Amino acid sequence: MAKITPKKLSGLLLLSLTSLCLLACSQKELPTQATAPVTVNQAAVAMPDSYSADVARDILQKGGNAVDAAIAAQFVLAVTLPEAGNIGGGGFMLVYKDQKTDFIDYREQAPLSAHRDMYLDENGEVIPYQSVIGILSSGVPGTVAGMWLAHEKHGSLPWKELLQPAVTLAEEGFEVHPKLASSIERHIARLEKRGFELNFKDYFESAKANQVFKQAELAETLKRIRDQGRDGFYKGETAKIISDFMRKEKGLVTEKDLLSYEAKTRQPLKAKWREYQLLTSPPPSSGGVAIIQWLKMYDLLTRDQQKLAHNSAAYLHLLSEIGKRVFADRAEYLGDPDFIDVPVTNLIADDYLTMRSQSVMRDKISETELIKPGLKESEETTHFSVMDKWGNAVSNTTTINLGYGSSVVVEGAGFLLNDEMDDFSSKPGVANVFGAVGGKANEIQPKKRMLSSMTPSMVLQDGKVVLVTGSPGGTTIISSVYLSILNALEFSMDATDIVNQPRFHHQLLPKDVIRYHDGLAPEVISELEKMGYIMSNRRFGDMHVVLNKDGKLSAASEANGRGKSIVF
Ligand code: DON
Repeated sequence: MAKITPKKLSGLLLLSLTSLCLLACSQKELPTQATAPVTVNQAAVAMPDSYSADVARDILQKGGNAVDAAIAAQFVLAVTLPEAGNIGGGGFMLVYKDQKTDFIDYREQAPLSAHRDMYLDENGEVIPYQSVIGILSSGVPGTVAGMWLAHEKHGSLPWKELLQPAVTLAEEGFEVHPKLASSIERHIARLEKRGFELNFKDYFESAKANQVFKQAELAETLKRIRDQGRDGFYKGETAKIISDFMRKEKGLVTEKDLLSYEAKTRQPLKAKWREYQLLTSPPPSSGGVAIIQWLKMYDLLTRDQQKLAHNSAAYLHLLSEIGKRVFADRAEYLGDPDFIDVPVTNLIADDYLTMRSQSVMRDKISETELIKPGLKESEETTHFSVMDKWGNAVSNTTTINLGYGSSVVVEGAGFLLNDEMDDFSSKPGVANVFGAVGGKANEIQPKKRMLSSMTPSMVLQDGKVVLVTGSPGGTTIISSVYLSILNALEFSMDATDIVNQPRFHHQLLPKDVIRYHDGLAPEVISELEKMGYIMSNRRFGDMHVVLNKDGKLSAASEANGRGKSIVF
């Protein structure tokens, strides 16, 4: 059942690109009231849908902390936000609790039988789309292990209490948001049009706008997780269902892969920027290094001049020039730190970035081909932000990669599998679905974690969290995150503007393309076109931020999505 029939491979790139960011891209809905910042000063949640927002608020009101709320929300999203919320994927959770920092890496990893050339044909060419859709695109899921570890380290309410809302929503059903219903409809139509025979339709076709949608198999899986903790997924019945399904469908994830998966604690990446402390994601995320480079180079290049106007052509050009250099480094140096040495300290060192920013051109575009890595040596993810009344915060980004992941549901367990293997570099220099290239640092190896752009982040001032931020969007995540920090701290915007101001993204390749949101001034677009940029109007991201201005909280979810923010 879960087979790709590759008869119509042409056009699949379009499928991949259009099916990612289903929630976040290209919709031109009017802002909803959900995005209005609320200003009661106590606790705040900014979530990608109303179910996760309400449950996270309930957990906080019961006396749970930000991590409890995050865990409960993560499992709810596995039910109500199938395009990205998951137990079949992975993610990163950044925690600031009791004035201490923590980072839980629950990224998927390559199965034990994966190998460097697994997506190449006998001529050494990349087999189209095999890493993006269908059973072979899945890495070993990390979400349940990640939530379990977060709970062991930081949770205060019983695990079962945190799982129950998700179980209820799966078992008794939830009312399907019209945006979700139409996204599912479009996804089914695209799969059919392109000739894929996957079981996505069997599971999701009955999700209709404003009607109750139940997921019985998923409810049983969530009950096993509720009752047995991480063993309810990685051992026993669920593990057997997954590995039997994999054997039947010729996938790679085995009992041994599941048993040996571990979520990891890592040191969050910290950097001083202005009077703030940036707290962000370390490798295997590329995002933390990237946003620190971006923000520091921005300061180096603007400190002797008048502040650039927000979203002016000069602003977009400068940040795109920086982006070229950031992404050249990303492609060369970033990967899983358990497999390669990532020179993080050197990449974010002030003297390196001073040197690196010297070649930035003020009035014209640097030649893409000339931008090399700089060191001398050698549409769907989802994000949410929470702050509790004690000032603890969680910034969490989670994904199954593209919208609805591999489009394969584990039969009998009722959850969608990720297609995260595409985040590896299948072949040096060949772009993945996000246009990202890589080489040795990010080649496939058994048990290795694929490089990510997910960048859950916070900004601290004097030991207090002033901004919790993050977004989906593949490589564009990095731009959404650093732009949200500039919006908040360079342009003093409120939470609603931080998430809704038009954004833009440039990543070295494709050459000189700036992707941008509706709302940029037409004269800015034409000025950049005159400079030689190719302006591509395609929305990205779905930001959910919490802002703390002098002890007064506000929170906002991007108007384009179906998010909900509450301050209470
Ligand atoms: O980890 C990453 O960088 C990607 N798998 C994230 C995918 C994503 O954000 C898709 N969303 N629109």
